[in-house]
Amino acid sequence: MIETKTYASRRAALLAQMQSGIAIVPTAPQRVRNRDSEYLYRYDSYFYYLCGFQEPEAVLVLVAGDEPKSLLFCREKNLERETWDGFRFGPEAAREAFGVDAAYPIGQLDEMLPGLIANQPALYYAPGMDAGWDARIMDWLNQVRAQSRTGVSAPQHIHDVRTSLDEMRLVKDAGELDLMRRAAAISAKAHERAMRATRPGTMEYEIEAELLYAFRRGGAQFPAYWPIVAGGANACILHYSENSARLDDGALLLIDAGCELDGYASDITRTFPVNGKFQGAQKDIYELVLAAQAAAIAATRPGVVWDAPHEAAVRVLAQGMIDFGLCQGSLEKVLETGDYKRYYMHRTGHWLGLDVHDVGEYKIDGKWRPLTAGMTLTVEPGCYIRAAEGVPEAFWNIGVRIEDDVLVCAEGCEVITAATPKSVADIENLVGKD
Ligand code: GLY
Ligand code: MN
Ligand code: MN
Repeated sequence: MIETKTYASRRAALLAQMQSGIAIVPTAPQRVRNRDSEYLYRYDSYFYYLCGFQEPEAVLVLVAGDEPKSLLFCREKNLERETWDGFRFGPEAAREAFGVDAAYPIGQLDEMLPGLIANQPALYYAPGMDAGWDARIMDWLNQVRAQSRTGVSAPQHIHDVRTSLDEMRLVKDAGELDLMRRAAAISAKAHERAMRATRPGTMEYEIEAELLYAFRRGGAQFPAYWPIVAGGANACILHYSENSARLDDGALLLIDAGCELDGYASDITRTFPVNGKFQGAQKDIYELVLAAQAAAIAATRPGVVWDAPHEAAVRVLAQGMIDFGLCQGSLEKVLETGDYKRYYMHRTGHWLGLDVHDVGEYKIDGKWRPLTAGMTLTVEPGCYIRAAEGVPEAFWNIGVRIEDDVLVCAEGCEVITAATPKSVADIENLVGKD
C-alpha cells in the first residue's frame, strides 16, 4: 500500500521542481462501451500517482510558490447517486483521507480555475492527452488573458507537467516495489495455473479464463493488458488477441499475461508445449531464447545503458540463428545487416510501472540512458519463425518469447517474476498436471 504521506511527498517534490506556477492534473474520464454501459473505470496514472484518489470526475490542482498548495476537485456526496453507483468521498472526506490542503466540488472547477491561474507565471499540464481538457484549460487561460487591461496577468510559460512526472515515476519507491512484487506473485501463480490446465484440444480462451480467474482470485483489479494466449502459428503474431483457436498436440503455446494490482502492472510471457514435452526444434529455439534472456538479465545493472540488455540478447539470438541455418554469414555481418530481425523484430524490454509500457525517456540527449537502482523494466527476448521459403521446415511456426520483470538494484538486478516456471524441466513437470 502507498501511504498518504508518500503521495504528499510526491506532490511536494513536483511543487519544488515547478518553483512557481500552477499545475492542473485531471483524472481519466469514464468511457462509454455502448449506449449507457461504461467500461470498467481506471483512473489516470499521473493523477493517481500524485494523490491515490480513485474516483472519476476529479482534478488535482497544485499551486507552487512560497506557500505551496494541493487542491482536489471531486464529486460531491450524493446519497441518491451513491445508491445507484456506490460510495463517493465528497470534498470534505476526500480532503481528510487524501491529505490535500483543500477540496472542492468538481462543479466549481470552471468558476474557480481562471482565478487560480490568474497572475501565475507558469501553467503546467499534459497537452494533447485529452482534447476536451486541452480546450477547457485553454478556455480558462483565455478568460484570464481577457482581463489583462485590469492588470491581471496570464501565465507566460506553458510546460508539459509530464516532463517532471515521468522522471519521478521512473524510479520506484518501497511502496511501489511492494505492490509490483505482489502483482508479480499473482501473475506467476496465474501462469502456473495456465500450464497445469493446458493439454491437447484445450481452447485458447479456456486458458485465458484460467489466467483471468487467477488474477481476480489473487486480488488484482484488472489484467494489466489483455492476455495473449497464442497456440502454434498464432505465437508468431506479436499482438495476437483473438484467443479463439484449439491447441494442437505437438504445438507450442505462448502466453503473455500479467495482472494490475492497485494500479501497478506485471508483464510475464512463458512459452511451453501443449502436450508437455518440447520437440527437437522447439527445444532448440526455446533454449536459445532462454540463453538470450539470461544474457540480457546478466547485463541489467546500474551504470550500464538502457540498450545493453537488448544488445546482449541480440548477440545470443543472432548466433543461434546462424547455428540453426536460419541466418547466413558471420555474427558481425548478421548483426550489422540486421538480418536477425526476420525472426526477432521487437526490442528486449520497456519500463514497467503504473502503465505496462511505463513512462520515462529511453534516451537522454540522443544517447541511451544509464540504468539506476529503483528502475523496473521487462526483459523479453523472443524468436518468431513463420513458414516461408528458404526457412528450414523443422522451425516453421515456432514462436517463443520469455518475459520477466526486473528491478535494477544497487548491484545487479532482481527478477521479481522469478517464481514463474521457466526451465525446460520445470515446465515439462507442470504442463497438463491439474
Ligand atoms: N504485454 C505487452 C508487452 O510485453 O510489451
Ligand atoms: Mn512486455
Ligand atoms: Mn508482455
